[in-house]
Amino acid sequence: MSEQPEKRTILITGCSSGIGEATAYGLKERGYRVFASARQAKDVEQLEAAGFEAVQLDLADSDSIRAAVETVAEKTGGTLDALFNNGAFGQTGAVEDLTREVLRFQFETNLFGTHELTNRVIPLMRRQGYGRILYNSSVLGLVAMKYRGAYNASKFALEGLVDTLRLELRGTNIQVVLIEPGPISSRFRDNSYRLFQQNIDAEHSVHRDAYRAIEERLQKQGPVVPFTLPPEAVLKKVIRALEARTSKIRYAVTFPTYLFAVLRRILPGRALDWVLSRI
Ligand SMILES: NC(=O)c1ccc[n+]([C@@H]2O[C@H](COP(=O)([O-])OP(=O)(O)OC[C@H]3O[C@@H](n4cnc5c(N)ncnc54)[C@H](OP(=O)(O)O)[C@@H]3O)[C@@H](O)[C@H]2O)c1
Repeated sequence: MSEQPEKRTILITGCSSGIGEATAYGLKERGYRVFASARQAKDVEQLEAAGFEAVQLDLADSDSIRAAVETVAEKTGGTLDALFNNGAFGQTGAVEDLTREVLRFQFETNLFGTHELTNRVIPLMRRQGYGRILYNSSVLGLVAMKYRGAYNASKFALEGLVDTLRLELRGTNIQVVLIEPGPISSRFRDNSYRLFQQNIDAEHSVHRDAYRAIEERLQKQGPVVPFTLPPEAVLKKVIRALEARTSKIRYAVTFPTYLFAVLRRILPGRALDWVLSRI
């Protein structure tokens, strides 16, 4: 991508808040032509008002994905330098309290929508002969944590899908990159709390005592775990992933990601469980 002379184009999902929003602003400031997408019309309007070429894109809706890619392709003349698959949410709740529908809903956005969008973008990149596809995964795509089963499963699945895609795209000049943030301040917790209340029957669960502590944590303002970084820390890694001649496969963001990436390699499974069960 560093060889492309014109203003580089990127489509980003989930730009209404947090990492997506910070990345959209940061890349625009750096001279990129940013197609900032959001799920809700009010956020699309706000992004437009802020000077973005804003697009409505709901990852849980195939028609919305198709229309968004068509709109972007029309505006660029059928090209797109980069895609940042960022939009996602975290459904909190014990594995045994997740209904099939709730688990499916988590996958609809975090995995299936991301997959479908990527598959609509790859043909543009194949035609132009290059491209970069970035995915916002998570430290929770590397290790599991209690009450994060739905989210863990969606990010583990994403890691598997992307690892495969990378092998299949070898030699195409389309580079595929996983960004691995740990705790980042954003609206993630607020959104998780809303979905927890909506989808988990906490009062009738064997986990209800643990849920009280979780609800308290989800409602807290500001960082609740050490080593939390602002979303601009992710922006920095995104810029590296976009602009390195050859990007790395994974970019860790925050100390906990580095730590758990190492621990999962060196610790026996039971020892890793012991560490993770204390978090
Ligand atoms: N914050 C962290 O600690 C952390 C750590 C590791 C990884 N991540 C990852 O970072 C990414 C961004 O999260 P964030 O921390 O910036 O949280 P955030 O502030 O909650 O932002 C999430 C974004 O995803 C969007 N989104 C949710 N469902 C969507 C759908 N169906 N279609 C399109 N967009 C959708 C949200 O839109 P609405 O406003 O419309 O809901 C919002 O714009 C996610 O992939 C997340 O898994 C976050």
